[in-house]
Amino acid sequence: SLVDKANYRHFMAKEIHEQPEVVGHTLARYVDMGTERVVLPARLPFDFKDVQRISITACGTASYAGFVAKYWFERFARVPVELDVASEFRYREAPLRKGDLAIFISQSGETADTLAALRYAKSQGAHTLSVVNVPTSTIARESEIVMPTLAGPEIGVASTKAFTCQLMVLAALAIAAGRGRGELSEADETKLVHGLVEVPRLIAAALTTEPQIEKLAREIAKSKDVLYLGRGTSYPLALEGALKLKEISYIHAEGYAAGELKHGPIALIDETMPVVVIAPYDRVFEKTVSNMQEVAARGGNIILMTDAKGAQEATVESLVTIILPDMAATFTPIVYAIPVQLLAYHTAVVMGTDVDQPRNLAKSVTVE
Ligand code: G6P
Repeated sequence: SLVDKANYRHFMAKEIHEQPEVVGHTLARYVDMGTERVVLPARLPFDFKDVQRISITACGTASYAGFVAKYWFERFARVPVELDVASEFRYREAPLRKGDLAIFISQSGETADTLAALRYAKSQGAHTLSVVNVPTSTIARESEIVMPTLAGPEIGVASTKAFTCQLMVLAALAIAAGRGRGELSEADETKLVHGLVEVPRLIAAALTTEPQIEKLAREIAKSKDVLYLGRGTSYPLALEGALKLKEISYIHAEGYAAGELKHGPIALIDETMPVVVIAPYDRVFEKTVSNMQEVAARGGNIILMTDAKGAQEATVESLVTIILPDMAATFTPIVYAIPVQLLAYHTAVVMGTDVDQPRNLAKSVTVE
């Protein structure tokens, strides 16, 4: 059945390993492989040209998918995006205008704060679009447009495959927005779609880092605190990495924009706090390297997640370098999510925690 652990020790491990397949299903739903164009599930009740602003609202891991998507929407479609966690959005009386697009992201489709935020956006006359994994859920039913993720049932409390499927849907939607607003040419769209089509295979390649990460997890398990750094779309992934680690291993972790290191967390750096740096070889890579130098100069231990080119160009000694496949820089968060999830998972296994049902957490938070 879909909801047994097969040969895995935990649902979370099974769900991590399902990602090439389920992200592939999600891709096939939103991309026409023949024409190499994005296809949305239904005709949209608005024109992207008329959208002045997008708001994205979610909780937890889903909010970090939204954070990555903010970079994509702003870059592909040149439309400003406001991002909120639902518990803030619902009470801060955000001034939405009629015709704005409000996007809600939720695995369960039942999260109380996200649902309340959706109802608020509707009351303001915004168009509402939800990215949900449970198509029969309340959020799906109450949204004007639903874009399902095809992750299948997710049992582990810490979200994994729902996250990468959310990213896939949001990438497709951001491309559609870019096309709709005339910011992407047909050739641009084809190039982006080519990049997306590669993602399931790249996720499978990223899963082969598991033995190396399993070994690394034994070191991480000795730490009291772990810092995650990233720039650009790797920044939200750093936040997600820290969230995953604390949720299931109970080791304190923080995610930070690499450029903010010198404005605070650098004070914490010593040889006891590992620093996980998420840095594909992209246009901000050199900047991240200079932050790594700041860490190294203070005796910090760096765990670098990068690609072959990045490993070659990083002029800083790292404790461990995890090499991910070469790929188009735009969609790296969907692939770098894998080592981030594996590191949290294996650290939790070393710590002996209840990985699938960590203490104090619920899969779906239906109360405020
Ligand atoms: C809970 C779960 C998280 C999840 C969050 C949002 O806190 O433990 O894994 O990211 O809720 O849930 P949703 O179903 O709205 O995505």
